[in-house]
Amino acid sequence: MMKYAQKVIIVPGYGLAVAQAQHVCHELELLLEEEGVDVKYAIHPVAGRMPGHMNVLLAESNVAYDKLIEMEDINPEFSTTDVVLVVGANDVVNPAAKTDSGSPIYGMPILDVDNAKQIVVLKRSMKSGYAGIENALFYDPKCGMLFGDAKDSISKLVTEVKAL
Ligand code: TAP
Repeated sequence: MMKYAQKVIIVPGYGLAVAQAQHVCHELELLLEEEGVDVKYAIHPVAGRMPGHMNVLLAESNVAYDKLIEMEDINPEFSTTDVVLVVGANDVVNPAAKTDSGSPIYGMPILDVDNAKQIVVLKRSMKSGYAGIENALFYDPKCGMLFGDAKDSISKLVTEVKAL
């Protein structure tokens, strides 16, 4: 899906840090760009466990600074995005923040990934994130779950893209 897309947005979250998947993620980004795909990263202000967590990790992997797009700027872009790859993020993409007034995260600004054409979520299970709540995104018909450690899963995706 990503290889034949025009535009891909990668959404990093706490699981990217746990898996230390930032280097292989950059490798995937470069590979897709070589194929002519427009690849960007969507940075939520509280993704991870400390301010700037995702920026630090991705900068460590030499991801170009202009590829890291803050939430307010990237949100309008999801509707024109073919594939969103969610890498170990959960709460920051939970639509309950917009739709469920009883949810503990109701009112928190989130990344509007559900506006994209396709979503793929890399995590190990259906388990919740920091807020301890279910995520309806994972049950969206447009959303596929690729279970496993994020570094391992992206490594396999890199191999697949190279083989195509
Ligand atoms: P979370 O909602 O915490 O979700 C992270 C997800 O990563 C988990 O659901 C987990 O699912 C997955 N994961 C863990 N290890 C993984 C691995 N090795 N490979 C693949 N996936 C893995 O993260 P988020 O979306 O980044 O949101 C951050 C949360 O932390 C927010 O609730 C925020 O309020 C809170 N918080 C943030 C900060 C700052 S300043 N950033 C400070 C304190 C609290 P599995 O277990 O299924 O793999």
